Amino acid sequence: MSLRLKFNLSLLAVMALGLALSSFQLNRVLEKNARDEVMHEAGLLMESALAIRAYTVDHVRPRLEKQLAEEFMPQTVPAFAATETLTALRKKYPEYAYKEATINPTNPRDLAEEWEAKIVEAFRADPATREVNGVRPTRTGPSLYVARPIQISNPACLACHSEPKAAPASMLRTYGEQAGFGWKLNEIVGAQVVSVPMAVPMQRARTTFYTSIGALVAIFLAMFVILNIMLDRLVIKPIVRMSAAADAISGGNFEVGALDASGTDEVAKLAQSFNRMTTSLAKAMQMLRAKK
Ligand code: HEC
Repeated sequence: MSLRLKFNLSLLAVMALGLALSSFQLNRVLEKNARDEVMHEAGLLMESALAIRAYTVDHVRPRLEKQLAEEFMPQTVPAFAATETLTALRKKYPEYAYKEATINPTNPRDLAEEWEAKIVEAFRADPATREVNGVRPTRTGPSLYVARPIQISNPACLACHSEPKAAPASMLRTYGEQAGFGWKLNEIVGAQVVSVPMAVPMQRARTTFYTSIGALVAIFLAMFVILNIMLDRLVIKPIVRMSAAADAISGGNFEVGALDASGTDEVAKLAQSFNRMTTSLAKAMQMLRAKK
């Protein structure tokens, strides 16, 4: 096996190992960053929904108590306020979504889809869980969801959600008596579900990944070429020259001329020694011949 082949094989092995390790690590970090970013956005959306709910309860409803007796205004219902506001947001950001997914909803648009119903079931099975998240495929790419349980912890909720008799007549006129009733105190009736698209941050992570790996490969290739040129100039060519010279001398031909021994590196020193040896050898042969 030639020197160049040995050298290149070890170089390639180190480069391949380095590339594999760095792409593995880079991929992990970038994916985690993308997910963290999306989780952060989802958290922000969830807190916005809660803030809108609180605003409705604290500032809107108390002002409209009197009017509510005559005319039911869904604008005073926290679920309605949060859903409407965040639906408006979807005009600009269509892939983002907020839903108060409910098993038996007052407003049919809040009906839990199959995957949401499963989340609600999971919350019911383990009431200690405060939040779950996951990724699911959608038409526009993977979407991260964060869900929190909606539990009826306040008896005041039952005024409108227990039975039609207890609900304001004005509300029944709008929503009917069919759905959104029969909820019990402490029951988990649904889940707040926030969905945030992952396609853009994941695409960005992929672009960063390929750019970085591309740069690394380019650096490795440049190193490979430069090291090969240096190996050729500094080691292989001088050795080939020396070996040719040694062959010639062993054949009795001292006229091969001195090797180029300029420089201070080890190969130059070897060439200097070689030249000295050739000179001594030539002298010794001369003396031998003179004695005959
Ligand atoms: C004054 C009557 C009233 C009270 C009190 C009330 N709600 Fe509602 N709730 C409604 C109406 C009406 C809707 C449907 C709003 C819409 O059209 O989006 C609704 C919707 C909801 C929804 C969305 C799912 C659905 O049924 O459409 C949830 C969740 C909810 N309410 C939870 C609660 C909780 C929790 C409380 C107590 C803190 C509460 N509600 C108190 C009237 C009420």
